[in-house]
Amino acid sequence: KVKRDKMTILVLGLNNSGKSTIINHFKKSSEQSAVMVPTVGFLIEQFYNMGVNIKAIDMSGATRYRNLWEHQFKNCQGIIYVIDASDRMRFVVVKDELDLVLQHPDFCNRIVPILFYGNKSDLEDSLSNVKIAAALGLENIKEKPWHICSSNAVSGEGLDEGVQWLVQQIR
Ligand code: GTP
Repeated sequence: KVKRDKMTILVLGLNNSGKSTIINHFKKSSEQSAVMVPTVGFLIEQFYNMGVNIKAIDMSGATRYRNLWEHQFKNCQGIIYVIDASDRMRFVVVKDELDLVLQHPDFCNRIVPILFYGNKSDLEDSLSNVKIAAALGLENIKEKPWHICSSNAVSGEGLDEGVQWLVQQIR
């Protein structure tokens, strides 16, 4: 298998889940500075890490701006879906947004690996990976490889392990 040196990974998740903090962690070890492209309705960030071109899309406001961000679906090879493990109130919204992504025509017939970060695992009331997986019905994802990692984006704990899994799935 030829090793890829360029991949597009979408970083999705509700606002405040920790996407920017996660992206910032990976930027530190990068030689290149991030290119910030603010657009109407969402934010695209790009950086280079571990030989991977990562394109991050902030999904905040997804329902309203879905016609804008779904253009990115076709050309991505992997997804990072960030969940605030302590934000129990919004788990229903997290699940709804995840289901929209999984059911999207550009995704439902493709084998796209999905990495879930159960982020903010340091917070006392954060849910375990097992409970997050149950709340989101991850066992129903049959056709795509997925993996869930606990992370603390502030300390960086768990982040590298997750991305390594994702890169291995794609290479
Ligand atoms: P939007 O840009 O609004 O979509 O949010 P985001 O998903 O990019 O979240 P962001 O990285 O801005 O983080 C939101 C807040 O959560 C910030 O105050 C972070 O410092 C905090 N935060 C992120 N990750 C963690 C974590 O693992 N643990 C804790 N305790 N706080 C975190």
